[in-house]
Amino acid sequence: MGKRIYLCLAKMSESGAEQRFVQEAFDTNWVAPLGPNVNAFEEELENFLNSTLKKVAALSSCTAAIHLALLLVGVKPGDEVLCQTFSFCASSNPVIYCGAKPVFVDSDAETWNMSPELLEEAINDRIAITGRKPKAIIVVDLYGMPANWQAIEEISHRYEIPVIEDAANAMGSFYKGKPCGSFGALATFSFNGNKMITTSGGGAIVCPDDAIKQRAIFLSTQARENALHYQHEVIGYNYRMSNVCAGIGRGQMTVLQEHIDHHKHVHELYTELLSNTDLTDKTDVRVQANPTEDYDSNFWLSTVTFGKDVDVTALCKALNAAGIEVRPLWKPMHLQPVYKDAPAYLNGVSENLFNTGLCLPSGPWVTDDDVRYIVDCIKKAIV
Ligand SMILES: Cc1ncc(COP(=O)(O)O)c(C=O)c1O
Repeated sequence: MGKRIYLCLAKMSESGAEQRFVQEAFDTNWVAPLGPNVNAFEEELENFLNSTLKKVAALSSCTAAIHLALLLVGVKPGDEVLCQTFSFCASSNPVIYCGAKPVFVDSDAETWNMSPELLEEAINDRIAITGRKPKAIIVVDLYGMPANWQAIEEISHRYEIPVIEDAANAMGSFYKGKPCGSFGALATFSFNGNKMITTSGGGAIVCPDDAIKQRAIFLSTQARENALHYQHEVIGYNYRMSNVCAGIGRGQMTVLQEHIDHHKHVHELYTELLSNTDLTDKTDVRVQANPTEDYDSNFWLSTVTFGKDVDVTALCKALNAAGIEVRPLWKPMHLQPVYKDAPAYLNGVSENLFNTGLCLPSGPWVTDDDVRYIVDCIKKAIV
């Protein structure tokens, strides 16, 4: 068998910028979770968000960022948090780290992210059942597609419940011209090895002002009080990003736009090739698209759904056997055994996506020829 085509492998810049920033960290002995690369990476992320208000703290992962975001909006043991069910487990697991209770909410059919209608229904129902408002809402821009932020932020303001934006997948996506990672009370990014850019492992929290950023840094560095000795008045975490990893991040910022353009190009090619009538005559094949011009997805992963007549599991196995890494769309959290007792507000959208959809290789190493080969393999398996 020839080469394997992966969903989204990290790619370092051709200029070697990452190595230069990492070398600088070594040369100056800044190898701890603080230093010039961390500061500069945060500043570059703030510039990227194009807002004078947003302040960014670089952390060890997006999961850590979501955990801190929950603590910063005051989530306490026993509180309920509304979570998008159609996502990776890292969107909701931090709710459990806080001793709080996730309540899952299904998606809308357009964005595949949290349905505003169901969100409002869930809020009212939780108030009726528990006598208390949910403490926070976690909304995801899944696969890079922005959520319906206008409707969600309107509900968040009306009920005065803070939203946390999980923009792990959505660096370089925009909603109504505003970058993902700048919605809600707090937002989070992932720089894991398979994301739009990487720091090997890493993440960031986007804060509304510097005071909250400083609080996030305080909590992420073991909550050390300002004293000569080690003084702790609250529980902290070891969640800060290392200066070595931040060096990789600074190098990756030089190719961010290139990566975004590439993901969008790959998506365009899938859309063109999979709309071929050989295939559309056979089954209802749809590549996810921006629902309206308000949405500008980075298409971190191109995703496709098939008609019920296609056995997606068999297709997934056939493609993997042909050297192509494909995965089913996320299995919703309300169907995961670990969350079987959590309340859920459902409309069937996420379960249907899980049963009919696949993620396709989309990263910076995927060539046009790879996309043609993948589409040919899909056709062979179906037509
Ligand atoms: C939607 C979503 N949220 C959160 C995460 C967690 O990111 P990290 O691996 O940086 O903790 C991921 C990672 O894949 C993700 O896809």
